[in-house]
Amino acid sequence: MRSAFLLAALLAASPAIADERYISIGVDALPTAQAVAGQRLDMDIVAHEGDVAVLTFDEDQLDELSEAMHAAHNRCGGYMVHDTLEDAFAEVVPERVIEYPLDRAEVVKAVLPALDAKRIEATIRELSANKNRYYMSASGARASVWLRDRWRGYTTRKDVTVELMDHGYEQSSVIMTIPGTTRASEVIVIGGHLDSIAPGGISSNAPGADDDASGVATFDEVARVLLAKDFRPERTIKFIAYAAEEVGLRGSLSVVRELVKKQKINVVGALQLDMTNYQGSNKDIWLIKDYTSATQNMFLVNLIETYTGATWGWDACGYACSDHASWHRAGVPASMPFEARFRDMNQSIHTAKDTLDRSKQNADHAVKFARLATAYAIELGKGDLGHATMSTTTTTPLGCDSWKWLAGLSSLAIAFALWFRTSRVA
Ligand code: BES
Ligand code: ZN
Repeated sequence: MRSAFLLAALLAASPAIADERYISIGVDALPTAQAVAGQRLDMDIVAHEGDVAVLTFDEDQLDELSEAMHAAHNRCGGYMVHDTLEDAFAEVVPERVIEYPLDRAEVVKAVLPALDAKRIEATIRELSANKNRYYMSASGARASVWLRDRWRGYTTRKDVTVELMDHGYEQSSVIMTIPGTTRASEVIVIGGHLDSIAPGGISSNAPGADDDASGVATFDEVARVLLAKDFRPERTIKFIAYAAEEVGLRGSLSVVRELVKKQKINVVGALQLDMTNYQGSNKDIWLIKDYTSATQNMFLVNLIETYTGATWGWDACGYACSDHASWHRAGVPASMPFEARFRDMNQSIHTAKDTLDRSKQNADHAVKFARLATAYAIELGKGDLGHATMSTTTTTPLGCDSWKWLAGLSSLAIAFALWFRTSRVA
C-alpha cells in the first residue's frame, strides 16, 4: 500500500518542471522508455511498485515513446500520462454496480434501420483525408473544429450542446451533450479518439482510417440518427471524441478529471469505440475483458444478442490500450467492443497505410458497432422518440385531420339527405 507519507515525500522531492509529465508504464517496457529518453537524460524513475513504474518524461518525446513501444513490443504497449504525481498514484476506484434491464425494444427497433453504412464510410473518408490528426498539429486541431461544426448541424434543438474542451495543446476533445429528461444528473458516455499517429509525428502521414476514424464515424452516425428521430433520453448522453489518446490517453484522462473529479458528475457508463471497421477474425465483435466492467460487458452481450444479429467473443489487450481505461480507473463502468481478436489486429495501424483499403473500401463491419452503440444509448439512456422525422401521419398537423373528418361527416349528411328525399317520393 502506498502511504501518504511516501507520496508527500515524493511531492517535496519532485518539483514540477515545465514540459515534464509523469507517466505510468509497465515495468516490462522500462528499457524501451529508457532507450527513448536515454541520450537526453530526461527520464527519472520516481517510484516502482509491483509491475507498474512511475517516471518523469519530457512531453516532446511522448510520440517517440509511442512509436518505440509499438516497434519494440511487437504489440502496442500502453502507458498513461499524468499532469501531477497525485494523478499518477491514484488508486483504481471500485466501480458501482447498476441495473441493466432491457425494456425499450420498440424504440431500438424503430431507430436501427436508419443507421447507414454508407454514411459511416463517407465520414471515415473525410477524417482520414487529413494528412494526420496528430494532437499537436494544425490538421489535428482542424479535425476537432470540423467535427464540432458537423455535430452542431445535426439538430436545431437548443437543449443539445456541442463544445470543444481545451487541453492546452492544439487538438481539443469534442463533446456533444443530449440532456436527460428525468435523470439528467446520470450521464452516459459514448466515445472514441479523434487523434492519429504514425512515425514522424507532427509531419507524418497518419490517415488513421481504422485507428480511430472508424470509431468516431461509428458514433457520429449514432448521434445523427438519434437526433434525427428527436430522441429524448431520461439520462444525459454525451458523445465524446477524445484528443491525444495515442500519446498516453491524455485527452480522456483530462476529460475524466474534469467531469468526474472536478464537476463530480455521476457517469453511469462509458462505451469506447476504438477500431470498428477491420474484420480480422471469425466473429464480429470482441469484448475486451481487461480494464472494463464485467457487469456492463454482460449488458453488451445481451444487447448484441437481442438487437444486432452480430456474433461475438471475449478477448483482452493485456494493458490499458485505449480510453476506456481512463474511465475504468475512475470507477466508471467501461466497455470496449473491438473489431477483431487482439492477435489478428489490423497491422497497418500507426502507419501511412491505415486507410479504407484495409476494409474493402466500405463500412459494413463498423455498422454492427453502430447498432450496438445505438441500443446501448437507448437501453441505458431510456427515454423515447419525439416526432422530428416520424411518418407523415404523426407529423401532419391536427387541423388537416379535422378537415378530413368534417369532409367525411358532410358526405354522410348529403347521402342521408338524398336517401330521405327518395324515400319521401316513394
Ligand atoms: N486503437 C489502439 C489500441 C489497440 C490497438 C487495441 C490494437 C487493440 C488492438 C490505440 O489507439 C492505441 O494505439 N493505444 C496505444 C496505447 C496508448 C495508451 C498510448 C497502444 O496500444 O500502444
Ligand atoms: Zn492507436
